[in-house]
Amino acid sequence: MADEFNRRNFLKTAALAAGPALVTGRAANDKVNIGWIGVGTRGYASLDWMHTAAPNDVQITAICDTYQGYIARAKDRMATIWGTTPKTYVDYRELLADKSIDAVFIMTPEHLHHDMAIAALRAGKNVYVEKPLAHTIEEGFDIVREWEKSKKIVQVGTQNRSSSLYKKAKELVKAGMVGDVHFVRAFWYRNGLPNEPSWRYVIPPEATPQNTDWNRFLGTAPKRPWDEHRYFQWRLYWDYSGGISTDLLVHQTDIVNFMLEKTVPRTCMASGGVYRWTDKTDDRDVPDCLSAIYDYADKLQVNYSCYLGNEFFGYGEEICGNEGTLRVMNRQDLYFEPEMYNSRRPNAPNRAPEAIKARAAIHINGPQEYKESDGAINHFRNFIQAILGKEQVIAPPTIGQQAAITGHMATLAFKNQKKIVWDETANKYHFV
Ligand SMILES: NC(=O)c1ccc[n+]([C@@H]2O[C@H](COP(=O)([O-])OP(=O)(O)OC[C@H]3O[C@@H](n4cnc5c(N)ncnc54)[C@H](O)[C@@H]3O)[C@@H](O)[C@H]2O)c1
Repeated sequence: MADEFNRRNFLKTAALAAGPALVTGRAANDKVNIGWIGVGTRGYASLDWMHTAAPNDVQITAICDTYQGYIARAKDRMATIWGTTPKTYVDYRELLADKSIDAVFIMTPEHLHHDMAIAALRAGKNVYVEKPLAHTIEEGFDIVREWEKSKKIVQVGTQNRSSSLYKKAKELVKAGMVGDVHFVRAFWYRNGLPNEPSWRYVIPPEATPQNTDWNRFLGTAPKRPWDEHRYFQWRLYWDYSGGISTDLLVHQTDIVNFMLEKTVPRTCMASGGVYRWTDKTDDRDVPDCLSAIYDYADKLQVNYSCYLGNEFFGYGEEICGNEGTLRVMNRQDLYFEPEMYNSRRPNAPNRAPEAIKARAAIHINGPQEYKESDGAINHFRNFIQAILGKEQVIAPPTIGQQAAITGHMATLAFKNQKKIVWDETANKYHFV
């Protein structure tokens, strides 16, 4: 009991510490106890990633999910990868009541993030919450305020900020390789086979209303009868998701903000609709084609597009500077090319001033150069290190909220068919 008290006391103190000095008092077997809420696609894969990220610093002592099939699958995986058997819960509040749990991972659908994150902070837990921070701008600010009161560590799952490739991109921009930047293109293109429509993820055939807690899935969303499509394909419905804006776009506008040291755009216009997946049996709400144009206060435009009916161009962010172009493609490859000012005519001379001509083109493949295919492992590790008082989190709720606001602006502009303006001083939006 005394040991338990000391361990917990340490974690509390360490969480508040700025540097590593206090960590020396940590016994070798002091592990951060984690409760995992949501072991669907992301939550399940993350059980492995956490094992790679911090195998000696953490133990996953509890998992919670409202579908029994996924609980069973996660228990199996825990036995295989971690060699342990976590306690299991269907009600996340019961998991939060376990005082031995130091931190929770919230990997549930977007509309549940708010209530779960607030309850976790009130229960004294450190929190890793998947992106988007919350389902609405107002809910996001609730979480930011609760976090500020709690003094706990919170990391939002915008993991690209922990990717070495994107850190390198930021460094190159800061070093002036592309010159001034006033224009960025970002895009994400995907496709599905005709009989596998985009975002119609497979529904486990064993799932029934008996082994799936539909009401807990709904949370505060509008009540309706059991609907397995809504449960397993929640991204397609406004009640639970912002669709492209909060699923894909937020990652990309977030990382553009990171690379260019921006926060929130001033305006957004958005256009699109359900153009590809129009079968009459497909009742999706959210667009499968969306373009959003953002203008920032200091003369930057981000031109974003996403289409779920053609994957040829993949996904990426292209920073179109006055003196060069820096692209990160599919989170795997970074390319830099200096401008040549020759309109790309064949055999035309390179008209660039000497200083620009001297900049060599660059190609870095992230997996080869950094042995990373995604930033998630670094992001998890950074969260744990922050709990241990050794690092600051790279994506606290303030940053996660900036990413989420950018996404919500696109949804609001699209739904209202109006240009939306963000007032950074008042933290409010209006339409014009
Ligand atoms: N950072 C990334 O790159 C990334 C990638 C994919 C998903 N995500 C995010 O992860 C989150 C989950 O997405 P997903 O694709 O794994 O969805 P999913 O539907 O595959 O998984 C969600 C899980 O939550 C469970 N769940 C639903 N209601 C619950 C409740 N009340 N209590 C406990 N569990 C509940 C479901 O049973 C399911 O297992 C979303 O916020 C999504 O945006 C992030």
